[in-house]
Amino acid sequence: MKLMMANIASCIFSLLYLLSLTLFFSPTLGRSINNNKKHVIGLFIFGDSFLDAGNNNYINTTPHDQANFFPYGQTYFNFPTGRFSDGRLISDFIAEYANLPLIPPFLQPGNYTQFYGGVNFASGGAGALVETFEGSVIPLKTQARDHFKKVATWLEHKLGSYEAKMLLSRGVYMFSIGTNDYLSPFLTQSDVLNSFSHSQYVDMVVGNITSIIKGIYKKGARKFVFMNLPPLGCLPGTRIIKSDGNGSCLQQLSSLAKLHNQALSLALFKLEKQLKGFKYSLYDFNADVTQMINHPFKYGLKEGKSACCGSGAFRGEYSCGGKRGNKHFELCDKPNEYLFWDSYHLTESAYKQLATRMWAYTTNSHFLGPYTISDFF
Ligand SMILES: *[C@@H]1O[C@H](CO)[C@@H](O)[C@H](O)[C@H]1NC(C)=O
Ligand SMILES: *[C@@H]1O[C@H](CO)[C@@H](O)[C@H](O)[C@H]1NC(C)=O
Ligand SMILES: *[C@@H]1O[C@H](CO)[C@@H](O)[C@H](O)[C@H]1NC(C)=O
Repeated sequence: MKLMMANIASCIFSLLYLLSLTLFFSPTLGRSINNNKKHVIGLFIFGDSFLDAGNNNYINTTPHDQANFFPYGQTYFNFPTGRFSDGRLISDFIAEYANLPLIPPFLQPGNYTQFYGGVNFASGGAGALVETFEGSVIPLKTQARDHFKKVATWLEHKLGSYEAKMLLSRGVYMFSIGTNDYLSPFLTQSDVLNSFSHSQYVDMVVGNITSIIKGIYKKGARKFVFMNLPPLGCLPGTRIIKSDGNGSCLQQLSSLAKLHNQALSLALFKLEKQLKGFKYSLYDFNADVTQMINHPFKYGLKEGKSACCGSGAFRGEYSCGGKRGNKHFELCDKPNEYLFWDSYHLTESAYKQLATRMWAYTTNSHFLGPYTISDFF
């Protein structure tokens, strides 16, 4: 009964979402894209819940990997779209700055007609390793090898192989991946970090990211955008992992994120040397979010450590919405004063600031280069 209600509710929400897209977004932008297939620069989005715009609404999983219930979406959409935030995500703002409509989730029914402007393949909980939350998410490999391939084939069918290749090579390919590969061993009490040294594990994650990038490059992609990993031990949900803790950051996780970020920088640098025409933009999400945690006032926020939605210390218990086992949760009045929306994810107001700085960061230092996203559009 409960499940059925949830399904009905999520159907209604999906319908509302489609309706709102049709009413508010597609008529003008959709048409202009269809008239300009030869020039449009699409945005192709891969990765995890920082970028998932609703793919997990359509897979067989649990509310742990979904956000299609109240109060998710309350700020901007007025209904839960499946985004893990109160409103829009970084990728939504990037699409806006690039004059694109909202990028449709690959699994959203009725999807293909809107795919000329790009597609969102991201899945909450996904990692670069297939073992990460296996069975409940769409791993990066599936996003890139199966789903992206389907879109490429569809474009070839519609436009012919030359035009399709041109469209894919003009496109921008944006990634947020890795967070769950490091979180999952801590959240599932797996002992994988005892069987591998930290640097071996990082090499495995970055090795998989590298081979997936190569696969997408082979299909014609040239312009890649990465955000590195945030300070993983300083999220509300990870500050509370150590029961003897006093709410300080979980250093082990933050240092894994640092190791990963160094390895990712190096891997991208090497790919640029190896692959002809490969260009990338790398944003230091870690440094930017760290600043926001430590100096929320400088960013117009009041709270940088506790989440707006959740329960317990720092509202770090992942109960936002009351559907993940714990029915009780607290919700703040003004999400736009918070950095964190729930135990792991940021508010729309934080994502907006981050997207603005990612887009064109002439005066800030959170830029690892070499291109800006605005260079790519
Ligand atoms: C949307 O994507 C799914 C995922 O594979 C696919 O099965 C479905 O046919 C697509 N819908 C449309 C209308 O093309
Ligand atoms: C990718 O990850 C798997 C584990 O999922 C690992 O066995 C493999 O060695 C990794 N590949 C690379 C190229 O690092
Ligand atoms: C919290 O605990 C850590 C490790 O035990 C310690 O280094 C830190 O100073 C403590 N912080 C506070 C605010 O008490």
